[in-house]
Amino acid sequence: MTETLLVTGASGHLGRAVIDHLLGAQKVAPANIVATTRNPESLADLAVRGVTVRAADFDNPASLENAFKGADRVLIVSTGELDLKSDRRLRQHQAAVAAAKAAGVSHLAYTSMPNPEPVSPVLFAGDHYGTEQAIKASGIPYTIFRNGWYQENLFLALPHAIASGKWYTSSGDGRIAHAARDDMAAAIAAGLASGSKESQVYTLTGPQAYTTNEIAALVTEVTGKPLEVIQVPDEALTEGVKAAGIPEDVARIIVSFDVNTRSGRIGMATDTVETLSGRKPQTLREFLEANKAALLG
Ligand SMILES: NC(=O)c1ccc[n+]([C@@H]2O[C@H](COP(=O)([O-])OP(=O)(O)OC[C@H]3O[C@@H](n4cnc5c(N)ncnc54)[C@H](OP(=O)(O)O)[C@@H]3O)[C@@H](O)[C@H]2O)c1
Repeated sequence: MTETLLVTGASGHLGRAVIDHLLGAQKVAPANIVATTRNPESLADLAVRGVTVRAADFDNPASLENAFKGADRVLIVSTGELDLKSDRRLRQHQAAVAAAKAAGVSHLAYTSMPNPEPVSPVLFAGDHYGTEQAIKASGIPYTIFRNGWYQENLFLALPHAIASGKWYTSSGDGRIAHAARDDMAAAIAAGLASGSKESQVYTLTGPQAYTTNEIAALVTEVTGKPLEVIQVPDEALTEGVKAAGIPEDVARIIVSFDVNTRSGRIGMATDTVETLSGRKPQTLREFLEANKAALLG
C-alpha cells in the first residue's frame, strides 16, 4: 500500500522545501502528499500539481482533526513562535501530536534541535525537548530530526559584522557546523519517504564544524573584507544587541545561542544529511561564495 505523507507548516521555508524534495528527488506522487498550512492560498501551485492542500493551525486543535485525516506519516515542522513568556509553542506542538494520535497516524516525524535537554542554555530548547517527550509518550513510532543551525542564520549577524569589520560574540572557541536549510530539507524528505518503521533520532548538520574565528577567516577569504572577532561577556553582548534595536527577549535568545556554542553543545558534525539524502551537503565556503553579494549588502 502506498503511504500518504503529510507535512505541516508547508508554506514556511523548510516545509515547502521538504515537499519540493518529496515531489522531486523522492519521486512521491502528488496524490500521496498532503500539505497543511495556515495559508492554503499560498500553496495554490501545489494544489494545481495534485498535492492535497489543507488548512491547519496548531493554535486551533479543531482544525487539525480534518487536516490530519487519512495521513500515514506526518512531519510536524516546529513553529516560529518564540514568546519566552508563555509555553505557547510547546502547546502548539503538543496539539499536533495529539491530533496525529487521534488520526491514527502510523509514523510521526518532528524538526527538533541538537541536545535539547533541560540543561541546554538555548532559551527555547524546552519547546523541542517537551515535544520530543510528547512524541515518545504518544506511542507512535517516530523520526526526530535534530536540525543544527542553518547557514542562512548567518545572514542575521554577518552583513552588519562585515560592514563594521567587527563581529561581537561570546561564543569563545565553540564550534558550529552550519548546514544549508535545503540540504536538511532533502534529508528530511528522504527520511519521510523511506517507509522506515523504527523510531530514530537523527542530528542533521553541515559537513564541518568551525569556531567563530574560523568562520570570520573564511568570510575574509571569500569577501576580501577584514573581520575581527571580539569576544565579550554575555551581559555586554545582550546590551549591544538591544542597542541595535532588537527586543530584549530576542536579544536574550540570540545570546543564548552563543552560550550554547561556547558550551560545545552544538559543536558536532555528522554525515547524516548525506547518508539520508544521498547528496553532498553545501560547505560553508560554498554558502559564503554563493551569497557574497547579499552578505556585502
Ligand atoms: N535550525 C535552525 O537554524 C532554525 C532557524 C530558524 C527556525 N528554525 C525552526 O525551524 C522551523 C522551520 O524553519 P523555516 O526556516 O521554515 O521557518 P519559517 O519559514 O519562518 O516558517 C515558520 C513555520 O512555522 C509554521 N507555523 C507558525 N505558526 C504556526 C501555527 N500556529 N500552526 C502551524 N504551523 C505554524 C509555519 O507554517 P505555515 O506558515 O505554513 O502555517 C512555518 O512552517 C521554524 O519554524 C523554527 O521552529 C530552525
